[in-house]
Formats: sequence, structure tokens, C-alpha cells
Amino acid sequence: MYVLVTGATGFIGAHVVDELLSLGHQVRAASRSCEKGQLLKQDRPDYASQIDIVQIADFTQGTSFAEAVQGVDGVIHVASPLDYTITDNEKDMILPAIAGVKAILQAAEGQESVKRVVITSSFAAVLDVNRAATPHHTYTAKDWNPLTYEEAIAKDSNAIIGYRASKKFAELEAWKFVEERKPSFDIVTICPPMTFGPVRHPVSKLANLNESNANLWKVASGAELPVSRVPLWVNVRDLAKAHVEALLRKEAGGKRYTIASPEKFSYKLAGDIVTEEFGWGRERVAKGEKQNTEGTHDLDGETVARELGLTYTSFRETVKAFVEQAVAMERRETS
Ligand SMILES: NC(=O)c1ccc[n+]([C@@H]2O[C@H](COP(=O)([O-])OP(=O)(O)OC[C@H]3O[C@@H](n4cnc5c(N)ncnc54)[C@H](OP(=O)(O)O)[C@@H]3O)[C@@H](O)[C@H]2O)c1
Repeated sequence: MYVLVTGATGFIGAHVVDELLSLGHQVRAASRSCEKGQLLKQDRPDYASQIDIVQIADFTQGTSFAEAVQGVDGVIHVASPLDYTITDNEKDMILPAIAGVKAILQAAEGQESVKRVVITSSFAAVLDVNRAATPHHTYTAKDWNPLTYEEAIAKDSNAIIGYRASKKFAELEAWKFVEERKPSFDIVTICPPMTFGPVRHPVSKLANLNESNANLWKVASGAELPVSRVPLWVNVRDLAKAHVEALLRKEAGGKRYTIASPEKFSYKLAGDIVTEEFGWGRERVAKGEKQNTEGTHDLDGETVARELGLTYTSFRETVKAFVEQAVAMERRETS
């Protein structure tokens, strides 16, 4: 199968690329930067003949995927903006996220060979942050974040709210497109919570780590113990496998999946694991009070595991694999 992957040079996208390559598929990796695309390819010398790179424009610049979809059988659309330093939620995050989804679906509609588009949404499109603490609720793919567009673009809304809205309204755009246009392909959306694990995309230095792993590194490097807002998470390789299985399994068509490890996490727990697993951990990890991992809600990770054949990786293994890699990067940076 020939698959276009957007966001391929990002944290999750690079794992999606690896999962596809390991199963023998052909990958076209989309990036705004040819240089980043080439680095992704260079890092996979054994698969050079299975990867080609296509350059696309920023989602704020009228992106078209018309060229990128030529000849592909399926698409995994991972790319979406995430920047908590923005000042205009609508212009900088919500409209670009929607534009990205629209552009990929319009291009797929014009390319008969495309049979399915898998879209990375987020638990942010599912969670109701104002939900009362009781009774206990298990979020499933039926739940939608109730945030309104007006609330999200209000002057006093911060970038976290902007991100939550960008994921919700971009995903809604996808479902609306399919309902209205009835294209010859179907879609699957996947809504992950915090995602952790080793890095497989081009990261030049630790300071450029993606948001979720940057938090783990803050713990391991003793910088600070971030607040654990929601104790739900998933391993990046498990998530990548879910994307690829969602593309390959016929019966997944038209479904929305939530995904989550059955284990809860906190940054304090991550610190304890680093202390136990690494000799230097006791001296270095960020100290702090025990953080609550119980929470008032759960997230359904069982349906996707059953239907797409996933086995969840433990938090211990995930933290260990990432920290080993980050420490090696640090050594290279300081030598
Ligand atoms: N990491 C998490 O914990 C987490 C949790 C839930 C959901 N997600 C979702 O998973 C997806 C990937 O996240 P990630 O952690 O892998 O992020 P990431 O490392 O920042 O990768 C995202 C990629 O999207 C592309 N991109 C970003 N802004 C863009 C824009 N304005 N126009 C065009 N392309 C743009 C970039 O590719 P180029 O620079 O190569 O163009 C970037 O590499 C996103 O949809 C995110 O919302 C992530």
C-alpha cells in the first residue's frame, strides 16, 4: 500500500512512518521543510527505497495536497498546529487546523485511488473540562468537548483552550465533509490523550522536544515537576500502530476511537520510575509531592485495543525508553 503521512517529521507522525515501513508499505512523507523530510529519510537508510518526501505549504498559506495525494491508496493525517505561545487562538491555531483537514479531504476526493483517510484528533476533542467531579465518568468516542467556537476565540481564552477548540472543530469538519460530500473514501479518527515515548523524528536538541516529552524531560533533568492535569496517556508506538491498523482494517471505516493505556500516570510517578531505573535518578529528578492519579474520569482504551489488536506498553517501559534516549542526547550536546 502507498500511504501519504502528514506531520511525518513530528513526534507521532515519525512513529506512524516507522510502523508502515516495518510492514512493507510505501510512504510519502509530507513536510513544510524539505530539509526535515530529508533528515527523516536519511535516518532510515534501510528503507530509502520505500520513502519519498513531498513539500507542502503551511496550513495558514492556502495549503493544497493535490500533488501530495497523487497515486496514494490511503492517507494518515497527523499534522496540526500546537503552540502555547500564540496570542490569537482563531488565526494561529483553530483556522489552520481546520484548513489542514479540509485540504487533505478535498485532495483525497480528487484522487480515486484513496480509499481511507485516518485523522489524528485528540482527547482534547472529547474531554469536558468543566464536568462536575462526580459521578465518575468513562469518556468514550461518543463524547465531545462542549466548548463553543465563541468561547474559544474570546479575547480572554488562553492558548490551551485554543488548542482544545482546534482539535474539536478540525475533527468536526472532517465528519461534516464526509456526511455532506459522501466521497468514495471513508475516514477514521483517533483521539489520544498525552502521548509519551522515544523520539524517532529529527530533533536537533533537547530544547526542541515536542510538548509531551518535554514535560518528561523536565522531570528527569530536575528542572521541575509539571502539574499532571489529566492522568491519562498512551505510548507513542501503540498509538502509531492504532493509526496503521485503522487504515488497514476494513471494518474500522467510519469509526471514531479513543485510545488510552489502562494505567494512570503522573509526573511524580515518572520521577519515581527514573529514580528506580537509573543510578543518577535519586540525585537529579525533580522532587515534589505525590500527585493524584485517580482522577474523576477514565478514558475508553479497550474498544480500540479489541478492534485494532493493540497491547498497551507499560508506563515504566515508556519512561525508561524515552529517558535513556534523552540522556544520550544530552551527553552529545554537552560533549
Ligand atoms: N503529543 C501528544 O501528546 C498528542 C496528544 C494528543 C493528540 N496529539 C495530536 O497528534 C498530532 C501530532 O502531534 P505531535 O506531538 O507529533 O506534534 P509535533 O511533533 O509538533 O508534529 C506535528 C507536525 O505537524 C506539522 N505542522 C504543525 N503546524 C503546521 C502548520 N501550521 N501547517 C502545516 N503543518 C504543520 C509539522 O510538520 P512540518 O514542520 O514537518 O511541516 C509538525 O512536525 C497533532 O494532530 C496533535 O494535535 C498529540
